[in-house]
Amino acid sequence: MTSGILSGRGKFITLEGGDGSGKSTQSRLLQAFLKEKGADCLLTREPGGAPGADEIRELILTGEPERWDAVGETLLFYAARRNHLRLTIEPALAAGRFVISDRFADSTMAYQGYGNQLGVAAVQKIHDFAIGDFAPDLTFILDLPAEEGLRRTEGRLHNEDRFEKMDLSFHERLREGFLSIARENPARCFVLDASRPVGDIQAEMREQLDQRLFR
Ligand SMILES: Nc1ncnc2c1ncn2[C@@H]1O[C@H](COP(=O)(O)OP(=O)(O)OP(=O)(O)O)[C@@H](O)[C@H]1O
Ligand SMILES: [Mg+2]
Repeated sequence: MTSGILSGRGKFITLEGGDGSGKSTQSRLLQAFLKEKGADCLLTREPGGAPGADEIRELILTGEPERWDAVGETLLFYAARRNHLRLTIEPALAAGRFVISDRFADSTMAYQGYGNQLGVAAVQKIHDFAIGDFAPDLTFILDLPAEEGLRRTEGRLHNEDRFEKMDLSFHERLREGFLSIARENPARCFVLDASRPVGDIQAEMREQLDQRLFR
C-alpha cells in the first residue's frame, strides 16, 4: 500500500506544541511506526537538522532570554529553516522518503508571533520571503496546559533552556497561538490532547496518518 507514495515525492509531517508537550517522544514512536510499515523515514528537528542550522540552534537556544529580540530571533530561525529545508528536507522528499520534523514553522509563528508578540503579519512576511509556499502535508499539534509542559521539563539537564526561562504568560500565549494556527489551517493541522498517556496519543496519531496518507 505504501508503494504509491514511495514511487513519488515523499510526505512531510511535523510535530508542534509547547515545551514538554511530548513532541520528541511521539516523533520517535511515529518514525518506528512508519518503519514497521516499510516506509523509509527521516527524523529531524528544529532549530537544526543540517550543519549550519545546528550552529544557529546553539545561538538561539542558549543564553539569557534578552539575548535576541523578537525580530532578530525570527530571522535566525528562518536562516536555520532555509538551510534545513535546502540541505535535508527537500532532498529526502525528492527521494520519496517520509520526513518527520520535531518542530517547524508553526513554532516560529507561535513563539515569536504570539509568545513574543511580534504579530502574525510580521512573522508571515518573513516566512513568505524565506520559504515561500512550502508547507507540511500533515501537522500534529500537541496541546497541553503550559504549567504541565514546564513541569515535565523541570530538572532536565541541558543548557538549551532560553525559552523555558520565559514567564508563564509567554507559555500561555504560545499555547493559544498553536490553537489559532490549527483553527486557521484545519486541513493540515490535527490537535491532540497531550495530557493523556503516551500510548493513547500515539494511537490517535497513527490512525490519522493511516487515514490521511495511506488511503
Ligand atoms: N503523554 C505523556 N505523559 C507524561 N509524560 C510525558 C508524556 N509524553 C512525554 N512525557 C515526558 O515529558 C518529558 C518531555 O517530553 P518530550 O521531551 O517528548 O517533550 P518535547 O515536546 O520534545 O519537549 P521540548 O519542547 O522541551 O523538546 C519527558 O520526560 C517525557 O518522558
Ligand atoms: Mg523535544
